[in-house]
Amino acid sequence: MSEIEILGPKGLPITGNLFAFRKNPLEFLRRAAEEYGDIVHLRFGPRHLYLISNPDYIKEVLVTKQAHFKKGKGLQVAKAVVGEGILTSEGKFHMRQRRLMQPSFRQDHIVSYGDTMVEYGEKLISKWKDGEERLISKDMMELTLSIITKTMFGTSINKNLNDIEHAIDVGLKYVSRRASSFIDIPESIPTKSNREFKEAAETLDKVIFSIIEERRKSEDENRGDLLSMLLAARDEDDGTGMTDHQVRDEVMTIFIAGHETTANTLSWTLYLLAQHPEAEQKLWSEIEQVLGGRKVTVHDLPKLKYAENIIWETLRLYPAAWAINREVTDEIEIGGHTFKPGESIMMSQYVMHRNPKYFDNPDAFIPERFAGNLLKEIPQFAFFPFGGGPRVCIGNHFAIMEATLILVTIAQKFQLRLADPHNPVEPEPVVTLRPKNGLRMIVKKR
Ligand code: HEM
Repeated sequence: MSEIEILGPKGLPITGNLFAFRKNPLEFLRRAAEEYGDIVHLRFGPRHLYLISNPDYIKEVLVTKQAHFKKGKGLQVAKAVVGEGILTSEGKFHMRQRRLMQPSFRQDHIVSYGDTMVEYGEKLISKWKDGEERLISKDMMELTLSIITKTMFGTSINKNLNDIEHAIDVGLKYVSRRASSFIDIPESIPTKSNREFKEAAETLDKVIFSIIEERRKSEDENRGDLLSMLLAARDEDDGTGMTDHQVRDEVMTIFIAGHETTANTLSWTLYLLAQHPEAEQKLWSEIEQVLGGRKVTVHDLPKLKYAENIIWETLRLYPAAWAINREVTDEIEIGGHTFKPGESIMMSQYVMHRNPKYFDNPDAFIPERFAGNLLKEIPQFAFFPFGGGPRVCIGNHFAIMEATLILVTIAQKFQLRLADPHNPVEPEPVVTLRPKNGLRMIVKKR
């Protein structure tokens, strides 16, 4: 087959498309895909990057031809925070860790986390005063952080949550900046940003090591949670356990990957619901019909379909993971083009989820679209909030269950509205997609 010509937006002589991308990554990518089609060539300085926006090609990268790729630069840079954990590692080592951790995330296992999720949600809203203004984005971060720590590591955070959130924020911004830059200033050079990052990493390390130490010291080290499994794991070949450092990397990975994305999803959900009173009304009716006035449990979830579809529609419009990146390791043909080792591939959920070819009225919030057969009618990778293939999100069921239970717990008791005045609510893609400058809302008792 002859090679197809791949085009892309014209960039500047040295930096290429980098500054246009940085200015507004989401709209830049969306426009590039609209104008140049399934495969777009981009250049960030000397780095060549291809944006792929055809669902069948995305499937090839993530599933059928995945052996020709490794994770992209962003996740390689993320090793500075999460080390060689399941999110960033590759090959056999990744497979072993994934097999080990998978049971903690199976659908039948996570049912046991439902009560904790609801209990923590109730604890949060019991602090809300009728009519007060809350920084909802912060409330959601603290809530999901407490839930992941309790369910996976069986403990509560006793360090100041503000310090932890600040440290994570510094870490993610650092990773995001380094991921899209083409000059790599080594971490060891004491620039302001490197120093801030080092401090943040130390704060997080202290938290994680204290979680591990506390468990090692406790009488019943085996409590059946993820941390117990990590500590008890033995290599099939030589019977050795994980070093403290390996356990630290996995705990840090789940600590961060397991709360940031869900917190942002919940913030976007509450924002969207406040903008759409007709959807809010429908949600209230469903809650009333299914629960009467009682507390929600996981066993109610099959009947709370509208609530769940609100979460799916939020993940479509504001996908917390807004792009997935890969780097070519072995030459491979996709869509009539041969990709070379070292080249980068980007696939954006934000771009795909707003494509009118697959979604009518793509910028509108319509949870009902998920009620029918939509996902069977469109190509599999036109909608992929959790990725796909062997690196699909390990926490996908956990996340949907948590987001739905928290949404129902909040909506049953409170109505939220955007604080007035409020800066325009815009998505900011910093590793995950979050509301820029946070989300302030008035919480009114129902
Ligand atoms: C709405 C919430 C979430 C979204 C949108 C999301 C999205 C994603 C996506 C797109 C990937 C694939 C990345 C890639 O292929 O490069 C991923 C991987 C991962 N996610 Fe999630 N995630 C969410 C919640 C969670 C939760 C709750 C956990 C843990 C409890 C979690 C843990 C992980 C881990 C460990 C990986 C790496 C898996 C591997 O490489 O084997 N995520 N997530």
